[in-house]
Amino acid sequence: MLKRFTVSMEDNLLEDFDNFIRDRHYKNRSEALRDLIRGRIIEKEWEADKDVMGVISLVYDHHQHKLQEKVTELQHGFHHQIVSTTHVHMDHDNCLEVIIVRGKAVEVRGLADSLTALRGVRNASLSMGSTGKNLH
Ligand code: NI
Repeated sequence: MLKRFTVSMEDNLLEDFDNFIRDRHYKNRSEALRDLIRGRIIEKEWEADKDVMGVISLVYDHHQHKLQEKVTELQHGFHHQIVSTTHVHMDHDNCLEVIIVRGKAVEVRGLADSLTALRGVRNASLSMGSTGKNLH
């Protein structure tokens, strides 16, 4: 059930908020505010080491000595956290790997950090989501 409440804010902050709403194509302030709040709560869950799902994506040079082996070996070490891995041969030199993960946030973060630290990994990112069980 939706409940109403009143929010007070300074003119310039409200102006920034309305610009944000327009840029992100939100229909109204309420929807934008709900998403912002959910986003912050998800971040908090992450910090609090809750169960999360996420996606790690990395781009690496497959000519780098033993890098492909190391990427695979690391993932086997986290097989409980990995749902699925997709490998794309981007071009002659580069591979893209997208890894869907679930588990404790600290474990998922650990895998992402370990992959990022490998020599030859050009770009790595982790995005986290929550099932939203506690978020309504
Ligand atoms: Ni490849």
